[in-house]
Amino acid sequence: MQDMRKPILRGTAKTDYERYIRTEELLALQKTAAEMSHPDELTFQVVHQSSELLMKGAAWELDRAVAAIEAGDLANATRLMRRALQMMQPPLTLLPVLETISPYDYHIIRAGLGHGSGLDSPGFLALLHVGPRLGAAFQAKIAEAGISISEMYRRHAEFFGLHDVAETLLDFDELIQHFRFRHLKLAQRIIGGGVIGTMGTPVEVLHQRQQHLFYKELWEVRNQITTWANEQNTATAADPDRGPH
Ligand code: HEM
Repeated sequence: MQDMRKPILRGTAKTDYERYIRTEELLALQKTAAEMSHPDELTFQVVHQSSELLMKGAAWELDRAVAAIEAGDLANATRLMRRALQMMQPPLTLLPVLETISPYDYHIIRAGLGHGSGLDSPGFLALLHVGPRLGAAFQAKIAEAGISISEMYRRHAEFFGLHDVAETLLDFDELIQHFRFRHLKLAQRIIGGGVIGTMGTPVEVLHQRQQHLFYKELWEVRNQITTWANEQNTATAADPDRGPH
């Protein structure tokens, strides 16, 4: 009988788990104790590396969502987007882990970062890149349906698939804002809000970037709907016989 404990996948690690997940390579990506400038450096590296992995995974799913929207498979697009949003949660919740590093200790680690900066984060850049592509794919479907965004919101039950994509796009926009807000607080807390980062960017710029929105039109349509509702209410108050419609 075959020994089920023996690895059968290609590789040199002891088990198939390690061979498939490539744990040997993965767990060798952090500095050894002897290489660390400070014992907190492992936490610093682990938080960054796991965030990069998860953002890579999220951007991949969002890329697939672009293709699904383009193919008119809106249900699958929102499913993939929801998966990506879930994958973005850990990077967000990991940021406060770094707030447990004391500012003086952080400067010991920071001295070894060179010009390394989150501005060059491949994972975050991939998310910033896919955001507008998702918006363009969505806009193309709106145009194809021959309606405006505000019309789609008014007839949301009829255009459920597009409405669901629009709301999930907003979830993504909000999540990026949350990430940037949490990250801004982390930077303010660890190095201060009035200084310059490792790539020469003032921390204040992080504050400005936090205001950025991918889907302004989707935020704007809320104002239009509320303005419309207020007008209806005023009209109804002036003429009680005029019921809601
Ligand atoms: C001690 C922890 C951290 C500090 C003090 C810090 C500080 C900063 C600063 C000052 C900047 C501005 C650019 C520059 O460096 O000149 C920046 C940008 C950035 N950092 Fe961090 N960071 C920290 C942790 C993280 C972590 C864990 C991530 C997750 C991957 C991250 C992702 C980013 C991103 C994506 C940007 C670009 C921001 C944007 O486009 O809005 N940072 N960081």
